[in-house]
Amino acid sequence: MIDRNAPIGVFDSGVGGLTVMKEIMHQIPSEKVVYFGDTARVPYGNKSKETVTKFSRQIVHFLQTRNVKAIVVACNTASAYALDELEKEVEVPIIGVVKPGAKVAVEATRNGKIGVIATEGTISSAIYERYIKELNKNVNVIEKACPLFVPLAEEGLWRDPVTDEIARRYLTELIDIDIDTLVLGCTHYPLIRETVGKIMGEGVTLVNPAYETARELKKLLEQENLLREKEPELGDNQYQFFVSDASEKFKRFANSIIKYGILSAKTINIEEY
Ligand code: DGL
Repeated sequence: MIDRNAPIGVFDSGVGGLTVMKEIMHQIPSEKVVYFGDTARVPYGNKSKETVTKFSRQIVHFLQTRNVKAIVVACNTASAYALDELEKEVEVPIIGVVKPGAKVAVEATRNGKIGVIATEGTISSAIYERYIKELNKNVNVIEKACPLFVPLAEEGLWRDPVTDEIARRYLTELIDIDIDTLVLGCTHYPLIRETVGKIMGEGVTLVNPAYETARELKKLLEQENLLREKEPELGDNQYQFFVSDASEKFKRFANSIIKYGILSAKTINIEEY
């Protein structure tokens, strides 16, 4: 039987999944969370399906050693490439970030033209299109890989003329096609949401899968009777962070996203799992 007071496991290729973690902390504040960022092997966005699946499987094995009660694949590329496999292999509930984002995009569009921006891996998997079409086959899905957004977000250039310029180049074709809804299909993109919103204009609804994923997670835990019963207590170590490399850098970045005061991130050798 799954222990409802056990932590939730959340993982990403690095820091991007912290945008999902932040939403989970906000929307289900009494839950405990174990976060793993694969900082040694990031990025996943330009790697093959086989490699991303292998990495994701190792991380899930690690999270299982922490006895998590549910797993959130807080990385679009890993959700796109590995979730189908992982679902068959784990006994606890596991969700990714793609399905929740696709669902909200379908609900939001009025003219039936949805744009999706993401890493090269997520775009080449065509996973957003698949889920969106499953919900409404008449919707047009226009996808665009924006690989430079990840390093720009990691460099902290969230509001910067360089980011404006790159975003304009990437997004112009989506503006020309007249999409009215745009999915931020990569964990880093919510960090540059302001820039993307400015360029797309007010008429375009931006969908942040991080927010929707936390909502879905809460619903799922409710349904499965897995919401934590007790409030976390002082010294409970409510949020624990693990990485595969460069923990200090991770900690600095994490503290700029999550205003929680993250004191430590432990480095582990993920290849052992
Ligand atoms: N976390 C990845 C994603 O959401 C972006 C960073 C990477 O390429 O690893 O697709």
